[in-house]
Amino acid sequence: MTSFPTPIIFSVLLLFIFSLSSSISFALSSFQPKALILPVTKDKSTLQYTTVINQRTPLVAASVVFDLGGRDLWVDCEKNYVSTTYKSARCNSAVCSRAGPRDCEQCFSPPRPGCNNNTCHTFPDNTVTGTIITSGEIAVDVVSIQSINGSNPGRVVKIPNLIFVCGSTNLLERLASGTVGMAGMGRHNIGLPSQFATAFSFNRKKFAVCLTSGRGVAFFGDVTYKFLPGIQISDLTTTPLLINPVSTASAYVQGERSSEYFIGVTDIKIADKSVPINKAILKINGATGYGGTKISTVNPYTEMETSIFNAFTSAFVRAATARNISRVSSVAPFGACFSTANVGVTRVGYAVPEIQLVLQSNDVVWRVFGANSMVSVRDDVICLGFVDGGVNARTSVVVGGYQLEDNLIEFDLASNRFGFSSTLLGRRTNCANFNFTSTVPN
Ligand SMILES: *[C@@H]1O[C@H](CO)[C@@H](O)[C@H](O)[C@H]1NC(C)=O
Ligand SMILES: *[C@@H]1O[C@H](CO)[C@@H](O)[C@H](O)[C@H]1NC(C)=O
Ligand SMILES: *[C@@H]1O[C@H](CO)[C@@H](O)[C@H](O)[C@H]1NC(C)=O
Ligand SMILES: *[C@@H]1O[C@H](CO)[C@@H](O)[C@H](O)[C@H]1NC(C)=O
Repeated sequence: MTSFPTPIIFSVLLLFIFSLSSSISFALSSFQPKALILPVTKDKSTLQYTTVINQRTPLVAASVVFDLGGRDLWVDCEKNYVSTTYKSARCNSAVCSRAGPRDCEQCFSPPRPGCNNNTCHTFPDNTVTGTIITSGEIAVDVVSIQSINGSNPGRVVKIPNLIFVCGSTNLLERLASGTVGMAGMGRHNIGLPSQFATAFSFNRKKFAVCLTSGRGVAFFGDVTYKFLPGIQISDLTTTPLLINPVSTASAYVQGERSSEYFIGVTDIKIADKSVPINKAILKINGATGYGGTKISTVNPYTEMETSIFNAFTSAFVRAATARNISRVSSVAPFGACFSTANVGVTRVGYAVPEIQLVLQSNDVVWRVFGANSMVSVRDDVICLGFVDGGVNARTSVVVGGYQLEDNLIEFDLASNRFGFSSTLLGRRTNCANFNFTSTVPN
């Protein structure tokens, strides 16, 4: 039997006590935020929305595309990923199982972030191009993010082990310039809303997004939504969030459900009249995952399956013509364009026929006014900002970024409810009016 000399045992014991007490003092002094905020900025050339994730040691402000339905955060680990706190997820580890059933892989290049042996892998998904290239290592690293208390932005807090996926440089194709990946806000264990809620034990697993043509905001956790000049948004209309049982990602494991957010549109009206469409494809087909209506921030404009798009465009042109608004030649990618000559301008945009997305009942309606329906393409020409999603499109209606701008939308993942404000312009504010300035010193 061997025994350690007493001094070694003693110093090991001391070290243990020391590390125990330092972790206790860390826990006591560590600040528990109730909610977090991220800026969400529109990229003028791609029309994508981007956010900044402050990640790694030393900290890097990683600009990434904000992907509402994306499954996870993925970043390029091939180029310029340097961090002393990077840890790859070992096969069969807890991190690995949180990420779902994944492959265990080896890497036959020199070790670096993204290339380690016996680590679990998944497919990072560029949802703009719909491509996946190769599987990527699942890893954790530190992330810093601004907290918010009530409606007051507060100090920056740290999440020591945020789970993400390593992508490659060639997966960045067609993403906004300067971005190094995508931030997935989808319904998944490793989606950012879920990880943020878990990291700080938020009592409500929910988040909200307010996009605009400049810098908007995303809120995670319980927040009082307040925009300059002191306008509080608390009366959201709500509808159930639906789950598509078949994944809509480019690559997925058999049986995996979609991480995207679907809502139950039952009818589409223009100027109070129903557009004649095949209502069956407004429903999600549970066997194939086709159909339904989802919300997306990677589609700049709402896409409709061809038959819906054609009926919708004709109905809109008819209603506009009835108001003496004259049609002019189309400007790609849009179908119907008009002269601004006979069109009035209101607080909620051009005075054009109102579009209504009818939800679970006739009195639950998402109203879309000119500011969200018409896109200015020239001084005197505006176009209906909807595009053709193709025949038998996988998802029948994809509500896109332009239609979401200056609307506050909330995703309550605990109660499976989607809340929406309709345009904030009608309440004399907008999504650029969130004041990020903190009153507390860091
Ligand atoms: C992984 O293991 C293989 C086989 O032992 C070895 O050749 C390779 O260099 C290792 N890769 C890394 C990144 O350590
Ligand atoms: C949040 O603000 C309230 C009142 O403004 C204060 O009592 C509370 O301590 C703050 N909470 C945190 C976590 O800072
Ligand atoms: C449209 O124009 C016609 C003829 O100029 C006019 O009689 C009619 O009142 C106008 N309708 C609307 C809705 O402005
Ligand atoms: C934003 O908030 C800060 C801190 O409360 C305040 O000093 C500043 O005046 C606010 N900005 C505007 C435009 O109200």
